[in-house]
Amino acid sequence: MNAILNTIFTKHQHQPGALLPILYDIQHELGYVPEDAVPLIAKELNLSRAEVHGVITYYHHFRQTPPGKHVVRVCCAEACQANGSEALAAHAAKRLQGADVTLEPVYCLGLCSIGPAIQIDETELHARVTPQKFDALMHKLGEKA
Ligand code: FES
Repeated sequence: MNAILNTIFTKHQHQPGALLPILYDIQHELGYVPEDAVPLIAKELNLSRAEVHGVITYYHHFRQTPPGKHVVRVCCAEACQANGSEALAAHAAKRLQGADVTLEPVYCLGLCSIGPAIQIDETELHARVTPQKFDALMHKLGEKA
C-alpha cells in the first residue's frame, strides 16, 4: 500500500486542496480508503487525522472497507426518490443479502427524468429500474461472475 500512496502523493505534490483528489486516487487504486492510510495522508498534507477522517466519512463516495466483487449503486437523490428509489433500495438490500456485492447510495446519476436509476460497477447505468428489472440485472451479473 505504501508504494501506491507514495506515487499518489507525488502526483498531487504541488496541488492545492489535494485531499479529495488523493482520496479519489486511493479508492480508485485500492477499491477503498484503508484506515492505515489516514495517518499517512494526514502527515503528507499536514492535517490532523480527524480532519482526514472527517472528509472520508462526509463523502458517501469513499469506502472504508474493501468492496464486494461488484458494486451496485442506487440513486437516492430527490427525483429518483419521487420515482420509488427508496422501495428499490430496500428491495436491493434484501435481494443482495449474502451476495458478494456492495450496495451503496449515490446522489444523482444524471438520469433524473427516467429514474429510479442504478449503476453497476462504475460502467453500467440503468434507468426506470423496477424490482423485477433489478432482479433480472442481478441475475445477469451473477452469470458474468
Ligand atoms: S436524481 Fe437519480 S439520477 Fe438524478
